[in-house]
Amino acid sequence: MDKQYLSLIYKFFLVWSVSLNFLLFSLVISRNSELSWSKKAAAEAEAAASVSCSGHGRAYIDGFVLDGGKPVCECNGCYAGHDCSEVIPDCIADADSGNPTFLEPFWRKNAASSAIMVAGWHRMGYEFEDGSLTSKELEKQIRKLHATAGNAITDGKYIVFGGGSTQLLSAAVNALSSKVSSSPTKVVASVPYYPVYKSQTELFKSMNFNFSGDTMSWKRSSNSSMNFIEFVTSPNNPDGQLKTAILRGPNAKQIHDLAYYWPHYTSIPSPIDEDLMIFTLSKLTGHAGSRLGWAIIKDKNVYDRMVNYIDLNTYGIARETQLRALKLLNVALQGDGRNFFDFGHETMKLRWQKLRKILSASSKRFSIQELKPHYCTFSSEIRSPAPAFAWIKCNEEEENDCHAVLRAAKILGRRGRVFGASSSYVRLSLVNSQDEFNQLMHKLEMLVFEEATNSVVEFTLGDSEMRNRYYVPRNGTSASGKDSCESIEMAQINSQTCAAQ
Ligand SMILES: Cc1ncc(COP(=O)(O)O)c(C=O)c1O
Repeated sequence: MDKQYLSLIYKFFLVWSVSLNFLLFSLVISRNSELSWSKKAAAEAEAAASVSCSGHGRAYIDGFVLDGGKPVCECNGCYAGHDCSEVIPDCIADADSGNPTFLEPFWRKNAASSAIMVAGWHRMGYEFEDGSLTSKELEKQIRKLHATAGNAITDGKYIVFGGGSTQLLSAAVNALSSKVSSSPTKVVASVPYYPVYKSQTELFKSMNFNFSGDTMSWKRSSNSSMNFIEFVTSPNNPDGQLKTAILRGPNAKQIHDLAYYWPHYTSIPSPIDEDLMIFTLSKLTGHAGSRLGWAIIKDKNVYDRMVNYIDLNTYGIARETQLRALKLLNVALQGDGRNFFDFGHETMKLRWQKLRKILSASSKRFSIQELKPHYCTFSSEIRSPAPAFAWIKCNEEEENDCHAVLRAAKILGRRGRVFGASSSYVRLSLVNSQDEFNQLMHKLEMLVFEEATNSVVEFTLGDSEMRNRYYVPRNGTSASGKDSCESIEMAQINSQTCAAQ
């Protein structure tokens, strides 16, 4: 055998031996990394997620299950049937609740990175290892999130978690109220205000504080010896306005409720640097059911009093919630938050464009809040606000119960009176699921169309080209398509049919 042949055999055996070793090594590694106890839970979660609900619902592991153990579809409003494929005729568009499910598609798209597995033995004790009730990792992530969004200064400040921001609102009132004054601290908010400020303060009313109505009515007294706690909500619920404190002076303290101060809903002109700021996961990621809020506090004494309140009230927040929030914020922060905040902002922007287009076809019967664009430091552009709620006003004198006007058109909003405003206002939620938003737009379109044509209309969802054929004039005589295109408003609504004539 010559030397060249021997070298070839040697090379062959060398490659063979390396490959065999690599194969064996890979087998050992894959065996070691194979899932064990979490496998069944993962399969269960995927099985529920794979139940088909026609895009109009979803099935949950903790939902109702059939005999075979298969989870049942829970349908969006106005949809029914075992797979949510049936449209409920004549259904009411529910725009009452501020359930922020508009973000669900983002979390479905990011299902793998946002899922958590909770072992049966996960953090069973009352406290974390360091004796505290809060995850230091989550606190770190929250500080990073505010720095990324540029919406609040957290440096040198304390953070306390609450069961949603709802729990923190009352913890803050308790902590800021004077314990030494002869008269109770007056808790105030600017009309229109988030109704929980009033109802919660009244429920927990004590010798130290009581609810005293609209901030404006106390403006002149703010430099007196009276003590005030002012709720400042920015952007405001219900009207989306950016707000600042009205009462000033040594006896006026503020609770800044910044639930909606995120790039989904508003431009971020600058980071807020107030003594007491409250945020919530509910309106940030949409996970209202997880019940997590946090307060950012400057003063150690106020922080201690709020911690004491939470300790005595619930002894902290569920570890499962903190774990989930940590995972969700990790995903939200990927790519400097661009994907997440862009999704939120784009969705809300498109919804506002649609709403404005429909209402622009109305005469002066309905109006909507005016909102000013501002420079947004997060997106480095001038942005129009796209708040969570439309604050609708019925302008005609005989329609001073706006809730009833909309209710007659099968639209369920929240009465202006609930927010301390007049009954000619109604709040419509724009943060619900796409189905709910579509139903709302559909009913509004019918209402506006009806006004423009002075007729009663009935057409089905998404059926714009059928409008002319379906509408019945109020005076009982039949209206031709030509009539309906003669007014500018009608031509706008009915652009397809009018353009064809
Ligand atoms: C202005 C404002 N603050 C606080 C809350 C309470 O939010 P959560 O208790 O879900 O954190 C809401 C909920 O709608 C709100 O609109």
